Amino acid sequence: MKLNDKNILLGVCGGIAAYKIPLLIRLLKKQGANVRVVVTRAATRFVTELTLSTLSQEPVCQDIFPDGSSTDEWTRHIAIGEWADAYVIAPATANTIAKLAAGICDDMLSASFITLRPNKPKLLFPAMDGEMFESASVQRNLSWLSEQGCIVVNPESGQLASGQCGTGRMPEPETITDVIEQAVTITQNDSVLRGKSVVITAGPTREKIDDVRFISNYSSGKMGFALAKAAAAKGAEVTLITGPVHLHTPEGVTRLNVESSEEMQNAVREHHTSCDIFIGAAAVADYRPVEAISGKFRKEHETMEISLVKNPDILAGFSEQKKAHQLAIGFSLETAGNLDHAKAKLKQKKLDLIAYNTFDGKTSGFEVDTNMLTLIDNSLSIQELPLLSKQKAAEKMLDAIEKLLNSSK
Ligand code: PMT
Repeated sequence: MKLNDKNILLGVCGGIAAYKIPLLIRLLKKQGANVRVVVTRAATRFVTELTLSTLSQEPVCQDIFPDGSSTDEWTRHIAIGEWADAYVIAPATANTIAKLAAGICDDMLSASFITLRPNKPKLLFPAMDGEMFESASVQRNLSWLSEQGCIVVNPESGQLASGQCGTGRMPEPETITDVIEQAVTITQNDSVLRGKSVVITAGPTREKIDDVRFISNYSSGKMGFALAKAAAAKGAEVTLITGPVHLHTPEGVTRLNVESSEEMQNAVREHHTSCDIFIGAAAVADYRPVEAISGKFRKEHETMEISLVKNPDILAGFSEQKKAHQLAIGFSLETAGNLDHAKAKLKQKKLDLIAYNTFDGKTSGFEVDTNMLTLIDNSLSIQELPLLSKQKAAEKMLDAIEKLLNSSK
């Protein structure tokens, strides 16, 4: 039984394909899964709650607001998200897909989509009229959800409820069961990163000029946080050492806040021996004032000079001392650079992998949500990535790191 004791949350929306769901529940139960069903109001027009709860042997949820007054009912949308090993939405209608993409959570189905634990697979099986499926809004929402890590299984072509032919049919329950089995198994077992200690630096550093001013840069931390989220999703134990940023800590990640490059270096040093993989995604200020002025510097002169001294290179410091089993991964942010600069940094800093980061001030580099990376490993093999969301780019980097780990086995 491939799904033995796995908790599958099944979200059913209001589409004609909902008639296949009772059979899907039976197949999942046959494979040993525990199944709980959440429905939208519209879904109950197509399939009854009585059928779904009888087959799943669990009550069916629809509203966030409970009928009873028991206190655990008030937090059921959270408990359900924590319980699930995978969340399967079938059929996923255009309306629900739009709500999920927008983060709207006004019923149990959409609320538990957000409370699902981060490393658990979310599978969407869109099913609708062919024209609706091809519409710009549905395609945009699906591609955004897939960038966020959802597994979107495209509908099949054939005769639709309207009597017309087109792409919009939900796959048969047997196919859906196979996809769920695959997703649950891959997420749980496959990554060599599972249990590995991954230390990531993120964000900018601040180098004090006086008590109210500092030298810094535009790094938002988004790239480093995306890497932390992706590594945690693969089961790694992640420590995120970050300069001052306004981002939420990804689920399951240990966060250490630092301010200056010196503080960042000290925090990294504490993990030198215990960490398996170090990723330098921070934009560490290259220089700091030789001495910070105490108090607030007075504006008495038209000009002022600040003497700067070079900061230690945190990433190079790690590589210098790393043991054979440890990996050092860095970025090379170049404005007008070329791949040769990145290759030189890979060599100088004795890295296992470097991400050459094109900076264009608009779509790639600081602050924005997307990044354009080219990955170069220590054998100088090159993987050019297109412009991707930082989350997707982070996942690609982790795939490359997994490959390095696998090849060194
Ligand atoms: O934070 P975001 O707004 O999402 O932006 C992401 C990013 C552009 C900051 C990120 O993708 C990135 O490219 N980070 C590295 C930026 C950088 O400082 O590049 P660099 O070429 O100057 O440094 C090379 C490598 O050495 C980097 O891995 C850096 O973390 C590391 N380094 C540099 C200097 C220093 N003193 N210590 C270091 O560890």
